[in-house]
Amino acid sequence: MINVAIDGPAGAGKSTIARKAAAELGFIYIDTGALYRTVGLAALRAGKDIKSPAEVESVLTDELCVELRFENGEQRMYLNGEDVSEKIRTPEASMAASAVSAVPAVRAYLFDLQKKLARENNCIMDGRDIGTVVLPDAKVKIFLTASPEARAERRYKELCEKGMSVDFEDVLADINKRDYDDSHRAIAPLKQAEDAVLCDTSNIGLEESIELIINIIKENI
Ligand code: DC
Repeated sequence: MINVAIDGPAGAGKSTIARKAAAELGFIYIDTGALYRTVGLAALRAGKDIKSPAEVESVLTDELCVELRFENGEQRMYLNGEDVSEKIRTPEASMAASAVSAVPAVRAYLFDLQKKLARENNCIMDGRDIGTVVLPDAKVKIFLTASPEARAERRYKELCEKGMSVDFEDVLADINKRDYDDSHRAIAPLKQAEDAVLCDTSNIGLEESIELIINIIKENI
């Protein structure tokens, strides 16, 4: 199977770009952040203190069922049989995902699932540690990034278009905090794999970024 790893910070456009590239290549697209979000939601629903690693770990019992299914080619997340694909997108679920992703037992729990998916499918997997930890032998590795200001600008526009009134400086501060947390955690921190191709999309638009990534993948598979 051909595996492509795309890692990078929040807001770099990984999911949009990876989804389009996968469709073009006939690969499946796997969003690994959704797995952490689902475990985060499970912890919230169980009333756990997400800041306590021991409490988070106590959710990982035989009763917990985190499933990734493909429906019409789209990834859906199921928690104990319930489709939670939309529920994992709330700000609370984002916070919980970030907290549980720093717990080693959670990463170990999700590791096998990610490996199995990669073994069985031609796929583009996006995350933070795919090229470094999950798929160190991926055929193509891309580290997709953009300056904090460029990412904040895109996020700010998105929120304004949704009619939300937000302050640009707050959006930027949030991006900087997430970057810091993601790259300074003790386990599987966000970092570029040595053999990854660095793509900086700060000064190029979405269409151009998609084309760039597709070309890099095609040249390397
Ligand atoms: O990409 P996202 O925002 O959906 O990710 C949610 C959280 O999960 C984020 O805090 C980073 C974490 N994550 C991770 O630690 N490792 C991955 N492979 C993917 C996401």
